[in-house]
Amino acid sequence: MTFENLLVEADAAVAVITINRPRVLNALDGKTVRELGEAVAWLQTQNQVRAVILTGAGDRAFVAGADIAYMRGLSPLQAKEFAQAGHAVFQALERMPQPVIAAVNGYALGGGCELALACDIRVAADNAQFGQPEVGLGIIAGFGGTQRLPRLVGPGLAKEMLFTAERWDAQKALQTGLVNHVVPGQELLPFCRELAGRIAGQGPVAVRLTKEAVDGGLQMDLASALAWEANLFGLAFATGDRAEGMDAFLQKRKPAFGGK
Ligand code: COA
Repeated sequence: MTFENLLVEADAAVAVITINRPRVLNALDGKTVRELGEAVAWLQTQNQVRAVILTGAGDRAFVAGADIAYMRGLSPLQAKEFAQAGHAVFQALERMPQPVIAAVNGYALGGGCELALACDIRVAADNAQFGQPEVGLGIIAGFGGTQRLPRLVGPGLAKEMLFTAERWDAQKALQTGLVNHVVPGQELLPFCRELAGRIAGQGPVAVRLTKEAVDGGLQMDLASALAWEANLFGLAFATGDRAEGMDAFLQKRKPAFGGK
């Protein structure tokens, strides 16, 4: 598939989506959000794709936020629709069966920070800067930041970032659990490809079920979540991957998972 504002590489087990508007530090306008939704819908039908990396073009920004020039002209109702469109696309990304790794190569501000939050795993280049500057523009975070940030780093730290519009550098993001790793800029994509490759080498259905188990369970009380896990555990036993994985272990060979 080809897009105006995205580059999508999907011919191998690890797909890469690059937000490609470097002139405006990859800011998200309505078209880019729509294209991201189309890319996500398409990639999840690609059986060869077992993990996805999401990054920004150039070495200055992952995504510097929603496009302020675009938002300046929106009426309140259009702004609500823009937020809802962002929510729908970010939720589709979050619910992709394949794990998604955000490779944060520079500014991840506003919608960019929120986009990284909708990914399963975040890895930062050492020049990464995270922040929710919306209150400085007289608006609030509207692509999930007020909800996903406190769920990830806790309400106290999240509120401080959201109320002050302060930026966190990569080290602070690491200390607070916003990112899993910080690596030198030139090592960011190789590091993420290696990490994604390790995921892609596991039983693909098992990885999908694990993502469903974690994400679904986080919305439930513990007893319901454990019942949810037990059901998905049982479902894994219906797969060819389970037979292959266990046979391969017992026969002391590498498994050849079919993803079924
Ligand atoms: N929306 C629209 N355009 C944006 C943008 C955004 N969120 N972020 C950056 N740009 C544009 C700038 O307007 C500039 O365009 P120009 O060259 O036509 O003037 C270009 O990208 C480069 O940005 P610039 O501000 O010159 O770079 P900088 O290195 O001085 O600063 C930032 C980088 C990220 C600190 C600064 O661009 C910034 O604060 N951006 C807005 C961040 C924000 O508030 N995001 C949340 C929006 S809800």
